[in-house]
Amino acid sequence: METRPFGSTGEHFPILSFGAQRIVDEHDCTEEQALAILNRAIDRGVRYFDTAWVYSYGQSEERVGKVARERRDEMWIATKAWDRTRDGALRQLEESLTRLQTDYVDEWRLHNIWSREELEKCFAPDGAIHAMTQAREEGLVRYVSISGHTDPQVQIEALERFPFDSVLIAASVLDHFIYSFAEEFLPVANAKGVATIGMKVFGLGRLGHVYDRALRYTLGLPVSTTIVGCSTMEQLENDLEIAENFVPLSGPERLAFLREMLPLVTPQNMPWKAKDWNNPVAWKLRAEPPTV
Ligand SMILES: NC(=O)c1ccc[n+]([C@@H]2O[C@H](COP(=O)([O-])OP(=O)(O)OC[C@H]3O[C@@H](n4cnc5c(N)ncnc54)[C@H](OP(=O)(O)O)[C@@H]3O)[C@@H](O)[C@H]2O)c1
Repeated sequence: METRPFGSTGEHFPILSFGAQRIVDEHDCTEEQALAILNRAIDRGVRYFDTAWVYSYGQSEERVGKVARERRDEMWIATKAWDRTRDGALRQLEESLTRLQTDYVDEWRLHNIWSREELEKCFAPDGAIHAMTQAREEGLVRYVSISGHTDPQVQIEALERFPFDSVLIAASVLDHFIYSFAEEFLPVANAKGVATIGMKVFGLGRLGHVYDRALRYTLGLPVSTTIVGCSTMEQLENDLEIAENFVPLSGPERLAFLREMLPLVTPQNMPWKAKDWNNPVAWKLRAEPPTV
């Protein structure tokens, strides 16, 4: 599989990486299936695994941890802090490390920073950013990161305030049309040498019927790697197949795909952008949002 540099870290990752939010009971994935999916991903060359303290009350981290116990050296593990305070975030890290059965994580993120107010909380004197730097100094965390899927300007401001090593962003074909991280954020991050991770490739599963082109669209963006969520082995195998034989969409294919996807750009299909959904000025299309 094609590999790409991971920002300025010196690491390189295959273009396909794994998002572990879906390998949980909540998504009808048993523990046995989850461990088989994780092991198959590693066997096929995937190295980068994203999880979070909040996913299914820790079940996602626990399952990643059961594989990490045996295969830690083959895995890059990224997890996240939901708490915006220093002390709260440090407590969450402690729990994450226990569930992940490891004494350090490769990347630790501020989770889902959707507005300037949320960012401000993290940068307050008692804010979570101080937990990040402390944990890095103590060797509990190797790299510091932030995620967001609502407004790219918030993540741009975050990069102005702090030298984050990486940023996890929404990069689906639907995101092309509104508050576009691909258009607004990636040029800024790439100029700074910050690693970027694409997510929401399948629009939380709403693009399952066009998974091939949805994945080829995101892999074709200038991101360092892309995490996909899978809850079955079949989905993983199909996603691996596309990534291993990756061919970017041609210009005409991309245009046709964008046209086909435009009617799906609705608040119902993109709840991660819904906070500002009612503000038509924000629409790049300069038109009313289409109805379903
Ligand atoms: N703010 C944040 O930091 C944040 C927020 C959200 C997610 N994440 C991370 O990003 C990862 C990816 O997001 P996600 O899992 O929510 O969404 P996603 O990758 O857009 O969608 C995953 C879903 O797409 C469908 N799918 C995947 N491969 C498929 C295939 N080959 N054929 C048909 N359908 C397929 C499945 O849906 P069905 O199961 O419905 O069939 C799967 O559960 C998460 O796992 C998580 O690690 C981070």
